Amino acid sequence: MTKKALITGITGQDGSHLCDFLMEKGYKIIGLKRRSSSFNTKRIDHIYNDISQTKNFIPYYGDLTDSSNILRVIQSTQPDEIYNLAAQSHVHTSFEIPEYSANADALGTLRILEAIRVLKLQKKTKFYQASTSEIFGNTEIPQSEKTPFRPRSPYAIAKLYAYWTTVNYREAYKIFAVNGILFNHEGPRRGETFVSRKVTRAVAEIYHKKRKFFTLGNLNAKRDWGSAKDYVRSMWLMLKAKKPSDYVIATGKSYTVKKFVEEAFKYIGVKISWKGKGINEVGIDKKTGHIYVKVDPKYFRPTEVFELRGDASKAKKELKWKPSTNFKELVAEMMEHDLNEIK
Ligand code: NAP
Ligand code: GDD
Repeated sequence: MTKKALITGITGQDGSHLCDFLMEKGYKIIGLKRRSSSFNTKRIDHIYNDISQTKNFIPYYGDLTDSSNILRVIQSTQPDEIYNLAAQSHVHTSFEIPEYSANADALGTLRILEAIRVLKLQKKTKFYQASTSEIFGNTEIPQSEKTPFRPRSPYAIAKLYAYWTTVNYREAYKIFAVNGILFNHEGPRRGETFVSRKVTRAVAEIYHKKRKFFTLGNLNAKRDWGSAKDYVRSMWLMLKAKKPSDYVIATGKSYTVKKFVEEAFKYIGVKISWKGKGINEVGIDKKTGHIYVKVDPKYFRPTEVFELRGDASKAKKELKWKPSTNFKELVAEMMEHDLNEIK
C-alpha cells in the first residue's frame, strides 16, 4: 500500500529534498506550507507544477503555532509518517525573536505529538523530529548521543524542549518518535542567510563583477558541514529502524568559516590570505592584495557555539548510514550552482 508522509517545512531546504527523496520511493506527500505574501515554493516548484504528480503531492496550508490547524490536517490525512522539519531555523535571528522561536520550534513539536495522541494514532503514525547539533553548545568534541546538552541560543533551547518532548512521548505513549540530531548540512538550496550559502553567493557575485567584497561575523567558528541530500536519507532510515531511537548525523570533520571562504575562492582561482586581528581582520587576494572579506560585528551572536563536530558511529552501525559528500565536493557543488544562477 502507498505510504503517506506529512512533511512540515516543505518549502525549506530539507523539506524539499526529503519530498524528492520520498516521492522517488513511491510515497504520497502531504506538504504543510504556511501562507506568505509572495511566492515561497521555489524549492518545490518542480513538484508543485508537475500535473502528473497532483495525486501524489497534496499541499496544505498550516502553521506550527496553530494547534487546531495541525489537528485538522493530521486528522484528515492520517499520515503513516510525520517529518517535523518546520522551524524558525536561524540561530542568530532567534536572539531577536526568542518567543516566536520557542512557540514554533518547541511548542510546535508538542502540538504535533499531542495531535497524534489525541487522535489515537500512536500505533499508526511514526514521528521524526528535526533536532540539531546546536543543543550541545560548547561541550566536549566530538559530540555524540551521549554528550551533555548546553544550548547557547533561544533556538537551541527551543529545540532542546522539542527533543525531550519527543523522548517523553516515545516513553509515555509508545509513539514511534525519534530525534535526528543533525549537524549543519548545506547545498544549493540552502537559505541565503546561512554562512555557507552567503559565502558561495558572494564569491559568485565577485566572479561576475557584481560586487567588490562582502562582510562576515565570527571567522573562527568551526562547523561540521555535510550535504543536505545525504542527510534527508537518514531521516527516512530512522523511521525504518526496528526500534525508535535518537541519532547523531554528521561527517566527523569540522572546518572554520575562514576555511569555507578559502575553499569557495579557490573554486574561482583566487588564493585568500588573512591579515589583521579581531574586527580588523580581512581576507585578501594573495596575488593582487584586493580586500574581498571584512568583519562586521553585527553578525556576531550574543553567545556563540565555537565548534560543532559530530560522531555518527551509532547511525553508521545501526542505520548503515554514511555521508557521501565531503567538504570540498560540497563547496564545489554550491559554487557551481551559484556561478550559474548569478550569471
Ligand atoms: P529552512 O530552510 O529554514 O526551512 C524551514 C521551513 O520551516 C520552511 O519551510 C519554513 O517556511 C517553515 N516554517 C518556519 N516557521 C514555520 C511555522 N511557524 N509554521 C510552519 N512552517 C514554518 O530549514 P532547513 O535547513 O530545511 O532545516 C529543516 C529543519 O531541520 C529545521 O527544523 C531546522 O531547525 C533543522 N535543522 C537544520 C539543520 C541544517 O543544517 N540545515 C541542522 C539541524 C537541524 P517558509 O518557507 O515559509 O519560511
Ligand atoms: N549566518 C551567518 N552569517 N553566520 C556567520 C556569519 C554570517 O555572516 N559569519 C560567521 N558566521 C558563523 C556563525 O557565527 C556560526 O558560528 C557559523 O558561521 C554557522 O552559522 P550559520 O550558517 O548561520 O549556521 P548555524 O550553525 O548557526 O545553524 C545552522 O546549523 C544548525 C545545526 O548545527 C542552522 O541550519 C540551524 O537551523 C541548525 O540547527
